[in-house]
Amino acid sequence: MITGASSGLGLELAKQFAQNGYDLAVSGSSERIFEAAETIRSFGVEAYPHQADASEYDGVESFWTFVKDLNRPVEAAVLNVGIGLGGAFAETELEEELRLISINISGTVHTAKRVVQHMVPNGRGKIMVVSSIAATLPTPYETVYGPSKAFGFLFAESLREELRGTGVTVTALLPGPTDTNFHDNAGMGSSEIGSSSKNDKQLVAKQGFEALMNDIDHVIGGDEATKQEAEENKRTPETEKAARHAKRARPEN
Ligand SMILES: NC(=O)c1ccc[n+]([C@@H]2O[C@H](COP(=O)([O-])OP(=O)(O)OC[C@H]3O[C@@H](n4cnc5c(N)ncnc54)[C@H](OP(=O)(O)O)[C@@H]3O)[C@@H](O)[C@H]2O)c1
Repeated sequence: MITGASSGLGLELAKQFAQNGYDLAVSGSSERIFEAAETIRSFGVEAYPHQADASEYDGVESFWTFVKDLNRPVEAAVLNVGIGLGGAFAETELEEELRLISINISGTVHTAKRVVQHMVPNGRGKIMVVSSIAATLPTPYETVYGPSKAFGFLFAESLREELRGTGVTVTALLPGPTDTNFHDNAGMGSSEIGSSSKNDKQLVAKQGFEALMNDIDHVIGGDEATKQEAEENKRTPETEKAARHAKRARPEN
């Protein structure tokens, strides 16, 4: 199962699974999820699309009910759905930030709870949490987004250790900026990050899929420069990273 698979990284991850023979249950909030299912089926596997809003408790629960009603053990679960939000915190709408938290944090915990309680008794399963390189630095002008991804990263690493020995593994994928609709959807199209060249989503998805299959705790998604940046972030003071990110993420007028 993959959440948020109508387009972007979720759909690319779905293609990776499909190429490797997995049938897939996929969710999205728009009707595009049905087109995504057609794309997935073209790889010769079955696809089960479900349309629901991941910002709402009932939407998250309805996808899990849909998956459970397929009456098949879930071999792998990718908790991918996530949204961004750019702009100055003093100006952005609280409602949008709370929606981001609902999708990126509450929805991830909610889905993980259902998946873990399904997989542990089965004694097997693989869980991927799609975090971000944003988890490795302060993210001014995306002041709620970055911390929501830091939550996902440390949630995945925590859960992984707790589930050691159960047969259930957890992997975090931390992509660098990637060529999806993400930045436009986040209202960041005019920022330096939003308008500069990005990582290939197919590469990022392949790296994530391979890390999941090889039981790696986390992987940076992207090219060498992205991986190097993540390494440097470990040694760079938070204040310095914050100042650098502010320049890149600030909306240009
Ligand atoms: N792209 C990047 O630069 C980047 C970098 C690091 C991490 N990430 C992470 O990667 C993940 C996927 O992002 P992306 O780049 O693929 O973004 P995207 O192109 O905007 O795709 C978002 C996906 O989530 C679905 N979605 C959005 N809101 C939803 C909702 N309320 N309920 C259910 N589904 C919803 C969308 O389908 P519908 O349109 O059908 O709702 C779509 O399939 C996110 O967790 C993001 O934080 C992205």
